[in-house]
Amino acid sequence: MRMLKTTFNYLTFLVAGSFLISCTAGENDTGLEFSPQMYHATSYEPLTQIVDEDAGNWLDSNDEDGHGEFYNSNPYNPYKMTMREPVPNTVRRGQPLPYRYTVNDLEAAALVESPIPAEDESVIKKGQELYDSYCTHCHGASGAGDGKVAEAYAGVANLKGAAYLELSEGHIFHVITYGKGLMGAHGSQVSPEDRWRIARYVKELQKN
Ligand code: HEC
Repeated sequence: MRMLKTTFNYLTFLVAGSFLISCTAGENDTGLEFSPQMYHATSYEPLTQIVDEDAGNWLDSNDEDGHGEFYNSNPYNPYKMTMREPVPNTVRRGQPLPYRYTVNDLEAAALVESPIPAEDESVIKKGQELYDSYCTHCHGASGAGDGKVAEAYAGVANLKGAAYLELSEGHIFHVITYGKGLMGAHGSQVSPEDRWRIARYVKELQKN
Protein backbone atom coordinates (compact mmCIF):
# COMPACT_ATOMS: atom_id res chain seq x y z
CA MET A 1 0.00 0.00 0.00
CA ARG A 2 2.72 2.39 1.03
CA MET A 3 4.70 1.42 -2.02
CA LEU A 4 1.72 2.20 -4.25
CA LYS A 5 1.32 5.62 -2.67
CA THR A 6 4.96 6.52 -3.24
CA THR A 7 4.76 5.45 -6.84
CA PHE A 8 1.61 7.48 -7.25
CA ASN A 9 3.25 10.57 -5.75
CA TYR A 10 6.26 10.04 -7.92
CA LEU A 11 4.13 9.78 -11.04
CA THR A 12 2.11 12.89 -10.12
CA PHE A 13 5.33 14.80 -9.68
CA LEU A 14 6.63 13.59 -13.04
CA VAL A 15 3.46 14.48 -14.94
CA ALA A 16 3.09 17.91 -13.29
CA GLY A 17 6.78 18.60 -13.80
CA SER A 18 6.73 17.75 -17.47
CA PHE A 19 3.68 19.98 -17.93
CA LEU A 20 5.47 22.91 -16.35
CA ILE A 21 8.64 22.37 -18.37
CA SER A 22 6.79 22.11 -21.64
CA CYS A 23 5.27 25.55 -21.10
CA THR A 24 8.56 27.45 -21.09
CA ALA A 25 9.09 29.89 -23.92
CA GLY A 26 12.38 31.46 -24.89
CA GLU A 27 13.69 34.17 -27.14
CA ASN A 28 13.61 31.91 -30.18
CA ASP A 29 10.94 29.54 -29.02
CA THR A 30 7.26 30.27 -28.66
CA GLY A 31 6.88 27.31 -26.30
CA LEU A 32 4.05 24.86 -26.52
CA GLU A 33 0.82 26.42 -27.68
CA PHE A 34 -2.49 24.92 -26.74
CA SER A 35 -5.09 25.28 -29.49
CA PRO A 36 -2.83 27.18 -31.91
CA GLN A 37 -5.72 27.82 -34.28
CA MET A 38 -6.82 30.48 -31.85
CA TYR A 39 -3.52 32.35 -32.20
CA HIS A 40 -2.80 31.90 -35.87
CA ALA A 41 -5.76 32.85 -37.99
CA THR A 42 -6.26 31.54 -41.50
CA SER A 43 -6.87 35.09 -42.62
CA TYR A 44 -4.06 37.24 -44.00
CA GLU A 45 -2.47 39.15 -41.16
CA PRO A 46 -0.73 42.33 -42.30
CA LEU A 47 1.21 42.85 -39.09
CA THR A 48 2.71 39.37 -38.81
CA GLN A 49 3.39 38.54 -42.42
CA ILE A 50 5.30 35.27 -42.68
CA VAL A 51 6.20 34.20 -46.21
CA ASP A 52 7.94 30.93 -45.40
CA GLU A 53 5.40 28.31 -46.42
CA ASP A 54 6.78 25.73 -44.00
CA ALA A 55 7.11 28.00 -40.97
CA GLY A 56 5.71 26.52 -37.80
CA ASN A 57 4.36 23.11 -37.16
CA TRP A 58 2.53 21.13 -39.84
CA LEU A 59 0.48 19.21 -37.33
CA ASP A 60 -0.95 22.38 -35.84
CA SER A 61 -1.66 23.98 -39.18
CA ASN A 62 -5.15 24.71 -40.40
CA ASP A 63 -5.67 21.98 -42.91
CA GLU A 64 -7.37 24.30 -45.39
CA ASP A 65 -4.29 26.08 -46.70
CA GLY A 66 -1.89 23.16 -46.76
CA HIS A 67 0.94 25.19 -45.26
CA GLY A 68 2.82 25.31 -41.98
CA GLU A 69 1.14 26.74 -38.92
CA PHE A 70 2.45 30.31 -39.23
CA TYR A 71 2.31 30.96 -42.98
CA ASN A 72 -0.18 33.73 -43.64
CA SER A 73 0.84 35.55 -46.82
CA ASN A 74 -1.09 36.36 -49.93
CA PRO A 75 0.49 34.59 -52.93
CA TYR A 76 -1.37 36.80 -55.42
CA ASN A 77 0.19 40.09 -54.32
CA PRO A 78 3.70 41.35 -55.13
CA TYR A 79 6.20 40.12 -52.51
CA LYS A 80 3.31 38.05 -51.11
CA MET A 81 2.21 41.20 -49.29
CA THR A 82 -0.95 40.74 -47.30
CA MET A 83 -2.13 44.26 -48.08
CA ARG A 84 -1.72 45.96 -51.44
CA GLU A 85 -0.06 49.33 -51.73
CA PRO A 86 -2.34 52.09 -52.99
CA VAL A 87 -2.21 52.85 -56.72
CA PRO A 88 0.54 55.44 -57.35
CA ASN A 89 -0.62 59.06 -57.18
CA THR A 90 -3.83 58.31 -55.36
CA VAL A 91 -4.82 60.62 -52.52
CA ARG A 92 -6.79 59.72 -49.45
CA ARG A 93 -10.40 60.86 -49.50
CA GLY A 94 -10.93 64.21 -47.82
CA GLN A 95 -7.20 64.98 -47.78
CA PRO A 96 -5.74 68.00 -49.60
CA LEU A 97 -3.58 67.28 -52.65
CA PRO A 98 0.08 66.80 -51.76
CA TYR A 99 2.43 69.73 -52.31
CA ARG A 100 3.87 69.31 -55.78
CA TYR A 101 6.38 72.11 -56.05
CA THR A 102 10.07 71.33 -55.80
CA VAL A 103 12.76 73.57 -54.37
CA ASN A 104 13.28 75.70 -57.49
CA ASP A 105 9.58 76.41 -58.12
CA LEU A 106 9.39 79.37 -55.76
CA GLU A 107 7.78 81.67 -58.33
CA ALA A 108 4.91 79.31 -59.08
CA ALA A 109 4.62 78.28 -55.43
CA ALA A 110 4.17 81.90 -54.40
CA LEU A 111 0.84 81.94 -56.28
CA VAL A 112 -0.61 79.02 -54.31
CA GLU A 113 -3.46 80.13 -52.08
CA SER A 114 -3.55 79.12 -48.44
CA PRO A 115 -6.18 76.46 -47.73
CA ILE A 116 -7.01 78.27 -44.46
CA PRO A 117 -10.02 80.58 -44.93
CA ALA A 118 -9.18 84.30 -44.50
CA GLU A 119 -11.77 84.73 -41.75
CA ASP A 120 -10.37 81.92 -39.59
CA GLU A 121 -9.09 83.82 -36.54
CA SER A 122 -8.29 80.74 -34.46
CA VAL A 123 -5.34 79.96 -36.67
CA ILE A 124 -3.40 83.03 -35.46
CA LYS A 125 -2.94 81.71 -31.93
CA LYS A 126 -1.80 78.29 -33.12
CA GLY A 127 0.41 79.98 -35.73
CA GLN A 128 2.05 82.04 -33.01
CA GLU A 129 2.85 78.97 -30.92
CA LEU A 130 4.42 77.30 -33.92
CA TYR A 131 6.32 80.43 -34.93
CA ASP A 132 7.69 80.71 -31.39
CA SER A 133 8.94 77.12 -31.55
CA TYR A 134 10.42 77.10 -35.02
CA CYS A 135 11.26 80.66 -36.06
CA THR A 136 11.72 83.03 -33.10
CA HIS A 137 15.30 82.03 -32.29
CA CYS A 138 16.36 83.39 -35.68
CA HIS A 139 13.72 85.88 -36.82
CA GLY A 140 12.84 87.21 -33.37
CA ALA A 141 9.45 87.28 -31.65
CA SER A 142 8.36 90.32 -33.65
CA GLY A 143 9.87 89.07 -36.93
CA ALA A 144 12.43 91.86 -37.01
CA GLY A 145 15.32 89.44 -37.58
CA ASP A 146 16.66 89.94 -34.04
CA GLY A 147 16.47 86.45 -32.50
CA LYS A 148 19.28 84.90 -30.45
CA VAL A 149 20.85 83.29 -33.48
CA ALA A 150 20.85 86.62 -35.32
CA GLU A 151 22.92 88.11 -32.50
CA ALA A 152 25.71 85.71 -33.40
CA TYR A 153 25.26 85.33 -37.17
CA ALA A 154 24.61 87.97 -39.78
CA GLY A 155 22.14 87.48 -42.61
CA VAL A 156 18.88 86.55 -40.87
CA ALA A 157 16.05 88.20 -42.79
CA ASN A 158 14.12 91.00 -41.10
CA LEU A 159 10.62 89.91 -42.03
CA LYS A 160 9.40 93.43 -41.37
CA GLY A 161 11.75 94.89 -43.94
CA ALA A 162 10.11 96.49 -46.98
CA ALA A 163 11.39 93.71 -49.27
CA TYR A 164 9.42 91.06 -47.35
CA LEU A 165 6.13 92.81 -46.63
CA GLU A 166 4.63 91.79 -49.96
CA LEU A 167 5.56 88.10 -49.71
CA SER A 168 2.53 85.90 -50.22
CA GLU A 169 1.59 83.10 -47.86
CA GLY A 170 2.43 80.64 -50.63
CA HIS A 171 5.93 82.12 -50.82
CA ILE A 172 6.42 81.84 -47.06
CA PHE A 173 5.06 78.27 -47.08
CA HIS A 174 7.57 77.36 -49.77
CA VAL A 175 10.48 78.93 -47.86
CA ILE A 176 9.51 77.09 -44.67
CA THR A 177 9.28 73.85 -46.64
CA TYR A 178 12.60 74.01 -48.50
CA GLY A 179 14.53 76.80 -46.79
CA LYS A 180 16.25 79.53 -48.78
CA GLY A 181 19.88 80.66 -48.91
CA LEU A 182 21.19 80.48 -45.36
CA MET A 183 17.88 79.30 -43.92
CA GLY A 184 17.44 75.55 -43.61
CA ALA A 185 14.41 73.53 -44.69
CA HIS A 186 11.68 72.85 -42.12
CA GLY A 187 9.49 70.61 -44.29
CA SER A 188 10.42 67.46 -42.42
CA GLN A 189 9.69 68.92 -38.98
CA VAL A 190 6.51 70.89 -39.60
CA SER A 191 3.38 69.40 -41.17
CA PRO A 192 1.89 71.15 -44.22
CA GLU A 193 -1.13 72.32 -42.17
CA ASP A 194 1.16 73.87 -39.57
CA ARG A 195 3.29 75.52 -42.26
CA TRP A 196 0.21 77.29 -43.58
CA ARG A 197 -0.64 78.37 -40.02
CA ILE A 198 2.84 79.82 -39.57
CA ALA A 199 2.64 81.60 -42.92
CA ARG A 200 -0.66 83.22 -41.86
CA TYR A 201 0.90 84.26 -38.56
CA VAL A 202 3.91 85.84 -40.31
CA LYS A 203 1.50 87.98 -42.38
CA GLU A 204 -0.20 88.97 -39.13
CA LEU A 205 3.15 89.88 -37.53
CA GLN A 206 3.99 92.06 -40.49
CA LYS A 207 0.88 94.19 -39.99
CA ASN A 208 2.16 95.61 -36.71
C1 HEC B 1 18.42 78.99 -38.29
C2 HEC B 1 17.83 80.32 -38.47
C3 HEC B 1 16.47 80.40 -39.11
C4 HEC B 1 15.30 79.78 -38.74
C5 HEC B 1 15.09 78.77 -37.63
C6 HEC B 1 14.28 80.27 -39.63
N1 HEC B 1 14.82 81.14 -40.53
FE1 HEC B 1 13.83 82.12 -41.97
N2 HEC B 1 15.53 82.91 -42.66
C7 HEC B 1 16.78 82.75 -42.08
C8 HEC B 1 17.78 83.39 -42.89
C9 HEC B 1 19.27 83.41 -42.57
C10 HEC B 1 17.09 83.96 -43.99
C11 HEC B 1 17.71 84.72 -45.14
C12 HEC B 1 17.92 83.69 -46.24
C13 HEC B 1 18.73 84.21 -47.40
O1 HEC B 1 18.18 85.01 -48.16
O2 HEC B 1 19.88 83.79 -47.49
C14 HEC B 1 15.70 83.66 -43.80
C15 HEC B 1 14.69 84.04 -44.66
C16 HEC B 1 13.36 83.89 -44.42
C17 HEC B 1 12.31 84.44 -45.24
C18 HEC B 1 12.47 85.31 -46.48
C19 HEC B 1 12.50 84.43 -47.72
C20 HEC B 1 12.84 85.16 -48.98
O3 HEC B 1 12.15 84.91 -49.97
O4 HEC B 1 13.81 85.92 -49.02
C21 HEC B 1 11.13 84.05 -44.68
C22 HEC B 1 9.72 84.37 -45.17
C23 HEC B 1 11.45 83.25 -43.53
N3 HEC B 1 12.82 83.16 -43.40
C24 HEC B 1 10.51 82.67 -42.70
C25 HEC B 1 10.83 81.79 -41.68
C26 HEC B 1 9.86 81.10 -40.89
C27 HEC B 1 8.36 81.27 -41.01
C28 HEC B 1 10.55 80.31 -40.02
C29 HEC B 1 9.99 79.35 -39.01
C30 HEC B 1 9.30 78.19 -39.55
C31 HEC B 1 11.95 80.52 -40.25
N4 HEC B 1 12.09 81.42 -41.27
C32 HEC B 1 12.96 79.89 -39.54
C33 HEC B 1 17.04 82.03 -40.92
C34 HEC B 1 16.14 81.25 -40.26
